[in-house]
Amino acid sequence: MVKKIDGFSKLGKQEKRKLISSKLPDPASFLRLLEDMEKPVPSIQKIIDNLSENCISNFILPYSVAPNFLINGRIYNLPMVTEESSVVAAASSASGYWASHGGFNTNVLNSIKSGQIHFLWKGDKQFLINEFQKIEKDLTNGVQHLTKKMRERGGGITGMELLDFTSELDNLFQIRVYFETADAMGANFINSCLEEIAILFKKHFNENVSVHTEKPEIIMSILSNYTPECIVSAEVRCKLDELGVFGMNGGKFAEKFKLAVDIAGLDTFRAVTHNKGIMNGSVAVLVATGNDFRAAEASAHAYAGRDGKYRSLSYVTIHEDIFTFGLRMPMALGTVGGITNTHPLCKLSMQMLDNPDAGQLMQIVAAAGLASNFAAIRALITGGIQHGHMKMHLSNILISLKASESESEKIRTFFQDKTVSFSGVEDYLNELRSRS
Ligand code: MEV
Repeated sequence: MVKKIDGFSKLGKQEKRKLISSKLPDPASFLRLLEDMEKPVPSIQKIIDNLSENCISNFILPYSVAPNFLINGRIYNLPMVTEESSVVAAASSASGYWASHGGFNTNVLNSIKSGQIHFLWKGDKQFLINEFQKIEKDLTNGVQHLTKKMRERGGGITGMELLDFTSELDNLFQIRVYFETADAMGANFINSCLEEIAILFKKHFNENVSVHTEKPEIIMSILSNYTPECIVSAEVRCKLDELGVFGMNGGKFAEKFKLAVDIAGLDTFRAVTHNKGIMNGSVAVLVATGNDFRAAEASAHAYAGRDGKYRSLSYVTIHEDIFTFGLRMPMALGTVGGITNTHPLCKLSMQMLDNPDAGQLMQIVAAAGLASNFAAIRALITGGIQHGHMKMHLSNILISLKASESESEKIRTFFQDKTVSFSGVEDYLNELRSRS
């Protein structure tokens, strides 16, 4: 049985490292690796250390750039952080193609987020509704001290409503509060407002309503990561014959591409993989800019199932000789607060994007998603995904087989016009070694 570690958070960094390494087969090399991962200057290291609890080193992922994203007439080079070798290459190839075919047209369709105060009410329903209507404005006014700064930036509380869930769960009601959070993702702002509103709501019943009346029992107050009213769109379009560069006639390519997207519109098994392909690009930019990619993922997938069946987030239309490929997805993110302005590489990413506001970043992230989706579908309906994937994966295979530099070079040349597979590379490496 694994022994529980007590008081880990109280240990110093070196002690944490020692403790963890003592449980591993080769503590010395583990410690060395943790140290090697910490080459950043101490001032940077201090920032990283403070981002999370129980930090014992840095976990390094490639920091990449997908160039040439023409978005609303302007070129961006997108910072991307991902462990999947083909994602950046795929996004880059799609951005290159669309940069010479009009680029991505993107829009923020709306930007409202919400949070909920869940509570139980065992009293008269109409009485609750009347009381809520009476105090609704006071609840908003009562948190003005919390919303002041946000209101100055054009945000704040935009509305609230009382919802009845008693048909699904006995006595359950909800106050749903709507927010505009300007350039912040707004999680802390929303949660602070909700908790304070919940206190005011309860206080109203305790202080102003007869002692004999039922009191609401607050269960919890929390923002929702589902943001169906915080939506961004991205679209590319071109003439059918301009698609004739992908190994088949442009009209045929468009038709096959549309079928592939339509399949993801009706089959959930395919739709999940299809949308994962969108998130490949979007999440890589979200990570690079220090945004909450788990929230974006959760919301995107819930949105994909909004009509009761999980479907593709993207669509294709072919009208006369015009091919249009687009998507709509929820995207709650921020360019102020969080780690966006503290993590050195996130700051760098923001600079790389010319310090966009939240709306601009939403559009950039959506374009990255659409580009990834385009590249994946293009590969799937032409040569198949494995050819490109495995080519990109070759470096990982060479590392895991411990191929030397000269061996790697020979292997790369040999596989230039062949399909890469782990066993194929291994066999060829053995052959090279037996020859020498
Ligand atoms: C792989 O990371 C993503 C794809 O599977 C997406 C898709 O199938 O559309 C290639």
